[in-house]
Amino acid sequence: MKFDAPATTNPIDQLKVVGQPVDRIDGPLKTTGTARYAYERHDAVPNAAYGYVVGSAIAKGRIKSIDVAAAKAALGVLAIVTAENAGKLEKGRLNTAKLLGGPEIQHYHQAIAVVVAETFEQARDAGQMLRVDYDREQGSFDLRGGMDTAKPAGITAGPPDTAVGNFGSAFAAAPVQLDETYTTPDESHAMMEPHASTAAWDGDKLTIWTSNQMIAWGVGEVAKTLNMPKENVRLISPFVGGGFGAKLFVRSDAILAALGARAAGRPVKVTLQRALVINNTTHRPATIQRIRIGTTRDGKITAVGHESWSGDLTGGKPDGAVSQTRMLYAGADRMTATRLAALDLPESNAMRAPGEATGMMALEIAMDEMAERLGMDPIEFRILNDTQVVPDVASKPPSQDPQAINNREAQSPSKDKPFSQRQLVQCFRTGAERFGWDKRIAQPGQVRDGRWLVGIGVASAFRNNQLTKSAARVRLETDGTVTVETDMTDIGTGSYTIIGQTAAEMMGVPLQKVAVRLGDSSFPISSGSGGQWGGNNSTAGVYAACVKLREMVAQKLGFNSAEAAFSDGEVRAGNRAVPLADAARDGSLSAEDAIEYGDLDKKFQQSTFGAHFVEVVVDAATAEIRVRRMLAVCAAGRILNPKTARSQVIGAMTMGVGAALMEELVVDKRVGFFVNHDLASYEVPVHADIPHQDMIFLDETDPMSSPMKAKGVAELGICGVAAAVANAVYNATGVRVRDYPVTLDKLI
Ligand code: MOS
Repeated sequence: MKFDAPATTNPIDQLKVVGQPVDRIDGPLKTTGTARYAYERHDAVPNAAYGYVVGSAIAKGRIKSIDVAAAKAALGVLAIVTAENAGKLEKGRLNTAKLLGGPEIQHYHQAIAVVVAETFEQARDAGQMLRVDYDREQGSFDLRGGMDTAKPAGITAGPPDTAVGNFGSAFAAAPVQLDETYTTPDESHAMMEPHASTAAWDGDKLTIWTSNQMIAWGVGEVAKTLNMPKENVRLISPFVGGGFGAKLFVRSDAILAALGARAAGRPVKVTLQRALVINNTTHRPATIQRIRIGTTRDGKITAVGHESWSGDLTGGKPDGAVSQTRMLYAGADRMTATRLAALDLPESNAMRAPGEATGMMALEIAMDEMAERLGMDPIEFRILNDTQVVPDVASKPPSQDPQAINNREAQSPSKDKPFSQRQLVQCFRTGAERFGWDKRIAQPGQVRDGRWLVGIGVASAFRNNQLTKSAARVRLETDGTVTVETDMTDIGTGSYTIIGQTAAEMMGVPLQKVAVRLGDSSFPISSGSGGQWGGNNSTAGVYAACVKLREMVAQKLGFNSAEAAFSDGEVRAGNRAVPLADAARDGSLSAEDAIEYGDLDKKFQQSTFGAHFVEVVVDAATAEIRVRRMLAVCAAGRILNPKTARSQVIGAMTMGVGAALMEELVVDKRVGFFVNHDLASYEVPVHADIPHQDMIFLDETDPMSSPMKAKGVAELGICGVAAAVANAVYNATGVRVRDYPVTLDKLI
């Protein structure tokens, strides 16, 4: 189905099942521990041996030799695979460093071997017996040191620089100016389930039970890496214990499980130890961001400039931190620039809301600082500079390469393009009233509650909505139930549930009569889960398949398909009503289709908006910071399930508190690795850190986004939170911290 005109009224608008806050249909499987994850597939693969990945002990250089003799002779060992005996491997398109390194080493903990043994303990034991002799070279690990030689990102996969008007002269002429630099640290996804895969060969056919967000990308990557046809690769990933971008791509667990299984002649499972999750896989790169804003005396932005530096391995990608600055606020003269420094740290890549998450951390403090210079309320300053059209333009056509995933939001900007929906102002007005913003005292450090200094802060939320082809198959079974199959993943987001709701609404059956099967490459190719594009696109694909199935049913039952209504388990038109199940009496009916998009997203900028409000308290003596309450108001199209959507947003708000106050991968600049490579020392918020969270969805449908009229919401929730926290800390204390995380030492 081609979607190339604004959506009109359709069966989803009934909202009998869609739009209801139903519980997750996969919930009981998870809470009873019966959902099987990639490392627990004893049901499908009873005989799996254990693979243990050995990571490089240097960040840069070469392996001179690996002595595997002792490990090979160790108890229980079945096989050892290194670059020497793995055969020829290609590098995938979506990873920057090789997933099995050697002899050249590109980063610390790059995988250099997998040891396969009967038990995990035997494999780990033997892994420690490898004798590796390295030639160590000096690497570059310091982003600040790499700034001068950083390259424009436009020549790699990054967003091209943009310029509108003459930023330099407009900024110089502005009566009120701000020129500040903000930094964000390297961050880890810190998902609960580590990367894990179980691989089994059947002749030249390979099946990998894995934990992955993007099944079709993964099939392509495995096939390319192992030099085999895609048809011979099957990926199965029905449950994912958190991804946040870390599992958009196939990583070493999948490739080494496959290589280990081939070498051992039996199925092998591999999970990455937590230290390897952090230093072997990807992370959100640190950024240095310079923001310049110039305004008139009454607060109109006349000039805005945003430059961002981040680092990655040579051939890698920059963070897209400047992207929202092209679209969020008005201003005639503007520029953005992105620079990539070559660093020898583990590879950078997408983490929840890549680009906006880091960019908003900086921009939204800058907006707060600017409002203060102007003597304006920070909400009124933002509202004054609202724009209903995109004020910036990309200077060259953006890349369609999936490698540019960090910057997919940069695919479309063209100047003066209207937003399909933009309720930023309404988000602030609604939130201000609910939160009690009128009680804020602009002068910092004025409110005391015993030993606590109290402050409140605000920030905009912004994240783009992306349209991506997505396919599904739906089947009316002979018993009248409906089965949906698509390779869409559920990474904890609620995909099972909203896909089930969509099929139930379309076919006129209760949700209990729909079975949803996901995460298998033998199913039609979906949008997958990433960049908050999964919800709208994957359900729209199910909608398309259901439209086809409805036509088949109508024909079978002798209805005119344009007139047939599907509800309460019946198909009706005029005075005639027939049980839906009758259509499948002689055998099930199956339909497959995809949603495909025209150029509506080129005519209308599709973005999601919100406002974050935060109250913090800071101990006047120790500077301990506690968050007291949070509110998010989101405008993100139709909300398909208010319960799962709320869970996404409050989870994202929690992650935003982590980014504001705790999260930081600490770089050892001599050896070149992340020191705090475990969940004990990489701090994320726990329940005790998270206070009352409140959230509101504005009533909105977006007919430009899809027949579902929905948009992404899962990543909107993190964008802006950290700045709202930092702004609240400033309001409480008068100390402006521009380097995240905002820890107590920076307040004293
Ligand atoms: Mo998201 S970082 O695109 O999974």
